[in-house]
Amino acid sequence: LNYNCPKSQKEIVEKLLTGLRRLEYRGYDSAGLAIEDGRDATETTSVVFRATGKIANLEALLTASEGELHGGTHFETHCGIAHTRWATHGPPASKNSHPHSSGADNDFLVVHNGIITNHQALRETLIRKGYVFESDTDTEVIPKLTKYLYDKFSEKCTFRQLVMEVLRQLQGAYALAFKSKHYPGELVAAKRGSPLLLGIVEGPHPGEQHALVTSEGFAPNSKRTKRMSMEFYFASDASAMVEHTKRVLHLEDDDVAHIQNGAYGIYRMERVHHEDGVESPSLAYAPTVNSAEVERTVETLTMEVEQIMKGNYDHFMKKEIHEQPDAMTQTMRGRVVFEPDGKTVQRVFIGGMVDYLSTIRRSRRIILCGCGTSYHSAIAIRSLMEELTELPVTLELASDVLDRQCPFFRDDSIIFISQSGETADTLRALEYAKSKGALCIGIVNVVGSAISRATDCGIHINAGAEIGVASTKAYTCQITAMVLLTLALSEDSRSLHDRRMEIMRGLADLPDNMRRALELDQQMLSLAKTLVNENSLLLFGRGFNYATALEGALKVKEVALLHSEGILAGEMKHGPLALVDDTLPLVVIATRDSSYVKQKSVIEQLRARDARCILIVGENDDSLDQYACGKDMIIRVPEVADCLQPLINIVPLQLLSYHLTVLRGHNVDQPRNLAKSVTVE
Ligand code: G6P
Repeated sequence: LNYNCPKSQKEIVEKLLTGLRRLEYRGYDSAGLAIEDGRDATETTSVVFRATGKIANLEALLTASEGELHGGTHFETHCGIAHTRWATHGPPASKNSHPHSSGADNDFLVVHNGIITNHQALRETLIRKGYVFESDTDTEVIPKLTKYLYDKFSEKCTFRQLVMEVLRQLQGAYALAFKSKHYPGELVAAKRGSPLLLGIVEGPHPGEQHALVTSEGFAPNSKRTKRMSMEFYFASDASAMVEHTKRVLHLEDDDVAHIQNGAYGIYRMERVHHEDGVESPSLAYAPTVNSAEVERTVETLTMEVEQIMKGNYDHFMKKEIHEQPDAMTQTMRGRVVFEPDGKTVQRVFIGGMVDYLSTIRRSRRIILCGCGTSYHSAIAIRSLMEELTELPVTLELASDVLDRQCPFFRDDSIIFISQSGETADTLRALEYAKSKGALCIGIVNVVGSAISRATDCGIHINAGAEIGVASTKAYTCQITAMVLLTLALSEDSRSLHDRRMEIMRGLADLPDNMRRALELDQQMLSLAKTLVNENSLLLFGRGFNYATALEGALKVKEVALLHSEGILAGEMKHGPLALVDDTLPLVVIATRDSSYVKQKSVIEQLRARDARCILIVGENDDSLDQYACGKDMIIRVPEVADCLQPLINIVPLQLLSYHLTVLRGHNVDQPRNLAKSVTVE
């Protein structure tokens, strides 16, 4: 956060805390912030506050430290940095919280998202030079290295040049913000591999409302008008700034942004190659820093503040589960074209894909790639995609693509699925696929995210911001978007006409059917009460609903912290049956589709072992009632086209995991040890 307009220290702290609260879903192990001391408006020393746990703990610390703060102090220019952490190196602890410092005087302070992979070597070098490390983090080498280079070369460097020298020594991924008492009021931020946005607020300066003259101003950027009041926000995502501004720009990898004198400049980090071909020998200083200023387009955010507020809901997860009918409508908006009657679907049209459909149809195979819930959406769509495209469709977990160095080829079409568009494993797999020349398609929720920008084409699912760490509406909207893509890919097929029409009719009614599925909420609460003290829950699905079993189990596991496994019912006899007795609760998904008869046989075999069966069945199907363990153990869902049924069947399982979590007293939106956007490998 950087201001060049009068602001009190209290206002600055409050803005930083609000930003952190909005980003808390990305990590909540510890938090910290650094601001100017404020005893004297000309004083440039910084004070740092750090606390373990949630942002609320940092707030409490700040309240308790009010004596050290100087609420009344007004700054003309000010730079503050803050961070909420998801621990990678070093356990959650105050000493491991950011900002990290160059030493006792806080000459340089840094916040970091990412992992510095060569931190050990840098740490050892700096220890040899006399630096004493306080934390177990990889990040701490950054401020210490900055101080080391500053002491050596300060007279030759601007803040930006100094930071660039530091960056040249770093390997790994980062989004970084630097603050220094040697460069008061300035802020330098840099990105490689981790997301970073710059938000801009521009207004007339209180003292000069009538003097908005273009200024030669700060050399790097002449976009500025004289004595404008400027505020700049750097953040890992837009939710931290949307209540202040909708004008943002996305930094690219190797961009370095410098804020100074109320203006910003963005520069490219050029890799300096030494004559011997070795890049950047350790701690060497190259006096000539190659960097060119670049323009980045200022975009307008479409996100609304309400999207990142809970509204009348107790939790984001609950809100997002209930938003699904509307979110799905948004996914289909403008893409499902109706006949003049407004009800019959005529065709599917996906603007961003038109030029690529024939290439995909001609590819050797389609590969679906993602992590977590996004990977489950790939499983959910696979069989329909195979059926309608008549191409082989294979699945890849993004981390495994990298581990195996998968054989990808130029004639592959690879679909990368990611809610955030920032997941490091998926992004790296995408970069790898691009290097192999494959056509890369994105199915992404966050507009402007790295995956949406790096893919050749794709579909924004338009589900709206998803804040709960457990993904819900993104899952159903990802599947919906891929149903649309599959329909678009098969639109020329005469033989598939009837099947396509059936699916398109189903799509038109899907939001209403989803609304009816949400009416199962109270039944799921009752069911959760009966399961609250269990230690394990198994879910059996097959065909279109294998994904439902996996995703239902993931929800129960990640938020309710209850062991749960999704099992392909066809594999039941090959192991899982050994676990079955009259105590272990099981969910069997048995809605009507081509595997219904086989699924019925699975249920019979389970009941033959006295299994405690909870059944998910079609609302008009009472033929399985006899197998359920009690009336409440039959979950009746609206019946839709077989390939769309997973979109409905997941709803009671989402609701069940939500209620189980609340009843078991766990944190719904921020489950233990997890984070929403995993931007580290
Ligand atoms: C994390 C989240 C999951 C999510 C996964 C993939 O593990 O906790 O909810 O499914 O990342 O995230 P993406 O943003 O790529 O869909």
